[in-house]
Amino acid sequence: MQVPIKKFASPLNYTGGKYKLLSQLLPIFPDSVNTFVDLFCGGCNVAINVNAANVICNDIDSRLIGLFSFFKANTYDFIISRMQDVIKDFKLSDSKKNGYAFYNCTSSNGLSSFNRYGYLQLREEFNSLSPESENYYLYLYVLIVFSFNNQIRFNGDGKFNLPVGKRDFNIKMQNKLKSFFMILDRKSIVFTSKDFERIKSEVLTENDFVYVDPPYLITCATYNEKSWNEEEEKRLLSYLDNLNLKKIRFALSNVLSTDGKTNEILKFWLDKNNYMCYHLDFSYKNSSYHKKNISKTDEVLITNY
Ligand SMILES: C[S@@+](CC[C@H](N)C(=O)[O-])C[C@H]1O[C@@H](n2cnc3c(N)ncnc32)[C@H](O)[C@@H]1O
Repeated sequence: MQVPIKKFASPLNYTGGKYKLLSQLLPIFPDSVNTFVDLFCGGCNVAINVNAANVICNDIDSRLIGLFSFFKANTYDFIISRMQDVIKDFKLSDSKKNGYAFYNCTSSNGLSSFNRYGYLQLREEFNSLSPESENYYLYLYVLIVFSFNNQIRFNGDGKFNLPVGKRDFNIKMQNKLKSFFMILDRKSIVFTSKDFERIKSEVLTENDFVYVDPPYLITCATYNEKSWNEEEEKRLLSYLDNLNLKKIRFALSNVLSTDGKTNEILKFWLDKNNYMCYHLDFSYKNSSYHKKNISKTDEVLITNY
């Protein structure tokens, strides 16, 4: 696949996001794709950077997909103006306009001391809403912007549980959101929230391509408290074998081994099938990796084409 010069990052700082791997992944993707399916889309880092006539972004996390659908249903200007109302109502900072000193804060210490009270009030209010309420996704996005590391995380009771962060709606966050809206305008993207197996191979053809970036069995990221286990891994691998039988192209991201652990299920599957395995350069993730040489991680992309 032709690699775009400028790559866009997700408007969310998504755990396990593939933004930094794009320059290694995209050249391995097929050149001509009708429908691109990002089966475990997470922050959509991959989907927003591919060249395809149609894009389907799927993730089991209905709040994540609800947020993207909320963006899709509204204009950028509308979201910005509603966000400004929320920022005012909950007395949160606007460092773009007023700088840090106005809030008795410095750039190195960040804005958390000023924002903590308003943020916790907003979080409480948000956690009392149902996803159907008018302000649910607006509040959710403002929370993400003002939260620690700009992530989206819920506890087992479905409550947003990140603490306040150091930053606010700064230029970097604003630009990521603006680019996301520009891509929504340009591309035909459909968002769905289903278990991956419910994206049926029957609706796909040989011209389509499925990118698969599941939670990794041997690394520990948790996605909103849902666990990924050996059963899930096997269920996914047989789903991929079925795509292969139907001649639908796929590419699976994963980690074969790390910290002395090996994903034996994946290794066995790979040994028994005739798929391609590309070993990627993992050091992109951790600049001190070479210096410290802490662990050797075999990050791979497995394809059936
Ligand atoms: C590694 S993340 C994807 C990151 C994404 N490629 C990016 O660049 O932002 C894995 C995603 O799989 C989703 N997921 C977990 N189980 C799933 C299932 N059974 N069906 C669909 N999605 C699932 C999680 O909610 C999570 O968002």
